[in-house]
Amino acid sequence: MSIISTREMLNKAQREGYAVPAFNIHNLETLEVVVETAAELKSPVILAGTPSTIKYAGGEYIVAMANVAAKQHDIPIAIHLDHYEDVEEIKHYVDLGFKSVMIDASHSPFEENIEIVKTVVEYAHKYDATVEAELGRLGGQEDDLIVDEKDTKFTNPKQAKEYVERTGIDSLAVAIGTAHGLYHGEAKLDFDRLKEIRDVVDVPLVLHGASNIPDELVKKAISLGICKVNVATDLKIPFSDAVKKYFIENPEANDPRKYMEPGKEAMRRVVAEKIMVCGSNGRA
Ligand code: 13P
Repeated sequence: MSIISTREMLNKAQREGYAVPAFNIHNLETLEVVVETAAELKSPVILAGTPSTIKYAGGEYIVAMANVAAKQHDIPIAIHLDHYEDVEEIKHYVDLGFKSVMIDASHSPFEENIEIVKTVVEYAHKYDATVEAELGRLGGQEDDLIVDEKDTKFTNPKQAKEYVERTGIDSLAVAIGTAHGLYHGEAKLDFDRLKEIRDVVDVPLVLHGASNIPDELVKKAISLGICKVNVATDLKIPFSDAVKKYFIENPEANDPRKYMEPGKEAMRRVVAEKIMVCGSNGRA
């Protein structure tokens, strides 16, 4: 297979009532773990990269690695720009081969948000790339983007309908109570709001900030219409904890082929668990 957009995979998830997981990857190791685990479980998968990840690993490298992965594994794979705010940067990466992008204009006022998103949709659709945008605002930290709790804003269902219709986006990221990074306190998701949004919006809905949210709540959100679940922090922590432990036990270690291995194994387990929670296993 080759790298595809998220159109088909998310529409199928919406029709059949499961979610496609979007895992934030950072390098060859994390990309391999995600793709290999998804292939074992026959799950479609989205490889997401934030602006600083793409800068760190190099957009061309990410595209090249993902293309190799897509050739080796017979599952739908998309590479996705996560939380991009710069329209020109998005255009550049679409030209490079990214077929799925998130334009995050959620910090802008409603009308301005719509105008920014429309520009991206117009460009991306010419290249068969899909566009996700966010209405409302998640709190917490994703990449270098920090949103203070007081600036958090839940998605307004009425506005959501108008937003989707006027922008022409392919999927909508909703703010219903999750936060990026580690959740402080008990997670409370506004399921009534999610239901209201689902009733008036027909594109696939996206849940950001799914780390540290109990599986039952994520499953319930999926049953109410979430079709894409974003996970970053829940992968980073076990990976780095396992590498730290390896160095404590092997203080002389210096071979990345050895010290990366426990990190990959720890991450592999979590990727598999998340795929099962999404119910995307066996859907490739
Ligand atoms: P978490 O780090 O909370 O999993 O959030 C990931 C995310 O939403 C990426 O867009």
